[in-house]
Amino acid sequence: TRTVRLAVIPGDGIGPEVIAEAEKVLDAVTDGSGIRFESTRFSLGAARYLETGDTLTDDDLAAIASHDAILLGAVGGVPGDPRLKDANIERGLLLKLRFELDHYVNLRPSKLYPGVPGPLAEPGDIDFVVVREGTEGPYVGNGGSIRRGTAHEIANETSVNTAFGVERVVRYAFALAERRRRKLTLVHKTNVLVHAGGIWKRIVDAVAQEHPDVAVDYLHVDAATIFLVTNPSRFDVLVTDNLFGDILTDLAGAVTGGIGLAASGNINPDGAFPSMFEPVHGSAPDIAGQQQADPTAAILSVALLLDHLGLADESQRVTRAVEEDIAVRGDTARSTAAIGDAIVARLRA
Ligand code: NAD
Ligand code: IPM
Ligand code: MN
Repeated sequence: TRTVRLAVIPGDGIGPEVIAEAEKVLDAVTDGSGIRFESTRFSLGAARYLETGDTLTDDDLAAIASHDAILLGAVGGVPGDPRLKDANIERGLLLKLRFELDHYVNLRPSKLYPGVPGPLAEPGDIDFVVVREGTEGPYVGNGGSIRRGTAHEIANETSVNTAFGVERVVRYAFALAERRRRKLTLVHKTNVLVHAGGIWKRIVDAVAQEHPDVAVDYLHVDAATIFLVTNPSRFDVLVTDNLFGDILTDLAGAVTGGIGLAASGNINPDGAFPSMFEPVHGSAPDIAGQQQADPTAAILSVALLLDHLGLADESQRVTRAVEEDIAVRGDTARSTAAIGDAIVARLRA
């Protein structure tokens, strides 16, 4: 029996609700197989901060890093909660994990599953992956402000783009395109962000020379948002920086039937650190504790996790069970647990 040590961070709001369903699915798909998941729970997030004042201690980080993989629900409190002003859970916890564990590929697939009532009248076949850079860009946090609160305040957030960091994620995106439909779209804003955009463009052009069979395309990010709505089936692999990737993937989620379906992997492809799988959505304080959250994104994140661990069969079984459930969903409202149970029942059938 192979044992996988999994760090589980349920987090805040709907995080624990959707993670409970994801864990049921993980149990069901590995039951009777040669693989055993051994989970360690980490209580982290806004709730923990309000209790103890800790966001992510060095001990937490070291303990998490010693696992084989991480499953995370969502972290963060109600936006604007004054008690969380100094905590900055997003930077101090989520981004800290992504940066410290060198999750340089933020993999965010979007697929319009048959039967999903999306917002587009004629969506076509939507099946693309956004490869979002995960450790650089404007997320680095090297900004600052001076003369705060005065009429002469200056506030900066610099976008950091290194040749090393851009090249490694671009190479990953090309390799992924090779295994898919061999189309790669770089998204940036080279017309305005000439330095940051320039390095991305030059590196994509250089790596493209090694992949003559991949059709390479470039779009400014504003135009990309148009095509994601008017012609999303034109996309196969999109590669972009941390901030553009964040924005595009919420849009992609909306276009493919809602943020409740969008899964992601924060991947360290080299395997030096554990990769982390999480729904794209946040803690949704507006519906937390009401069993109204859709756990599908968390469950599909389990499929990404299984695939990453080389458990392709198990991963496909989860995806298939989700697809089957989605196909018969219609618009009947079900509780978070009812959706999880229905998917588990398909896996156990
Ligand atoms: P959000 O994604 O939490 O919610 C946006 C909207 O989508 C809300 O109306 C919510 O009810 C709905 N929604 C989200 N997930 C859903 C699901 N599974 N099923 C049904 N509806 C769902 O975004 P927000 O409101 O901007 O952020 C809330 C908090 O979460 C903030 O503190 C934010 O920083 C944090 N956040 C965390 C993560 C993460 O942990 N990865 C990601 C995004 C936001
Ligand atoms: C996401 C979230 C995070 C991001 C926030 C909460 C830091 O929006 O995972 O998409 O911007 O990456
Ligand atoms: Mn986001």
